[in-house]
Amino acid sequence: MARKLRILRASDLNGTLDMRDVLPLIEQAFFERGMGRTEMPPKSYLHFPSHEGVLLIMPGSLPQMDEAAVKLINVHTRNPVDHGLPTLIATIVLISPDTGEPVCIMDGTYVTGMRTGAVSGVATKLLARKASRVLGIVGAGFQGPFQLEAVRHSMPVEEVLVTDLVPERARNLAQMAEGFGLAARACETVEEVVRGCDVLVTATPSDRPIVRDEWVREGMHINCVGTYAKGKQEIDPAILKRSIVVVDDWTQASHAGEINVPVSRNEFDRSGVYAELPEVAAGLKPGRTDDRDITVFDTTGLAIQDVVTAWKAFEVAERENLGSVIDPLYT
Ligand SMILES: NC(=O)c1ccc[n+]([C@@H]2O[C@H](COP(=O)([O-])OP(=O)(O)OC[C@H]3O[C@@H](n4cnc5c(N)ncnc54)[C@H](O)[C@@H]3O)[C@@H](O)[C@H]2O)c1
Repeated sequence: MARKLRILRASDLNGTLDMRDVLPLIEQAFFERGMGRTEMPPKSYLHFPSHEGVLLIMPGSLPQMDEAAVKLINVHTRNPVDHGLPTLIATIVLISPDTGEPVCIMDGTYVTGMRTGAVSGVATKLLARKASRVLGIVGAGFQGPFQLEAVRHSMPVEEVLVTDLVPERARNLAQMAEGFGLAARACETVEEVVRGCDVLVTATPSDRPIVRDEWVREGMHINCVGTYAKGKQEIDPAILKRSIVVVDDWTQASHAGEINVPVSRNEFDRSGVYAELPEVAAGLKPGRTDDRDITVFDTTGLAIQDVVTAWKAFEVAERENLGSVIDPLYT
């Protein structure tokens, strides 16, 4: 029998998921990928040069979990000024693997925040020193709260240091951390955050290194979140040279991740990458083995993260009858 189609707007989704439910799902998705049991064709791009825009199409399927979806996400840099719209608009279509029917169309913004935070949490769990207590966050925009929420459930955080070009954003995120009962401080400089933390998250759209090599000490773990496109970078490539580097996916990372600039200059290649995170999640390679190592996780965001997170949101929406339901489009 044909299934109805659920429509979930951003306002239906915000706050529906608990990060503690998403973290194990993301770890499971990476485990599945490490076991070679996912399908995830490379991202496709449609370019709209006259509008300074690009659309990314991200399909993914996890047969063991019986879940599939396609995410469409655009980057139109003139949207805010010319059209009063966000730069990024994400939409996720959930596909039922048994019939191929679309069962849900949802706004993808919230899911993107949750899954991007969660993968930092998983990487922190697998790669950070067990004695890590201080979390540093550079960039307190949309991603900031998701990163804080994910990492605080993945290591025993006692203190949070935050900085942002807009000081008020850093103060707000520090206040959020205080609300969780943690010591927290908004810092004036990136240096103060980096020198003071055990685990660092960089979540800025920077196109030049803002984390200097001399600030990074032995035993740190860094989640590089912000670099999503060719030509962008947040950390000094010298840090990569002395670190255990783990990427979410070599192809994506070498084109668009933190390593893309040094790769394009032939200053870094695949031999500098210790593992893809799926290999570590599946136990094919150990995570951290030495407390003195610096570990760097380069995440570009995989479709399988969207698939499992969006299906979880759909499960909640079905249970709580969120959003609206329409007849199948093909009837
Ligand atoms: N890896 C992934 O899967 C993934 C997913 C989503 C977003 N991203 C990327 O993460 C980055 C952050 O995303 P967002 O949605 O939070 O963006 P955002 O614009 O909401 O926030 C970015 C924040 O970084 C701050 N910032 C910029 N330059 C800085 C600097 N030099 N020092 C300190 N702060 C600085 C800005 O003031 C802003 O508050 C973007 O580049 C985005 O494309 C990556």
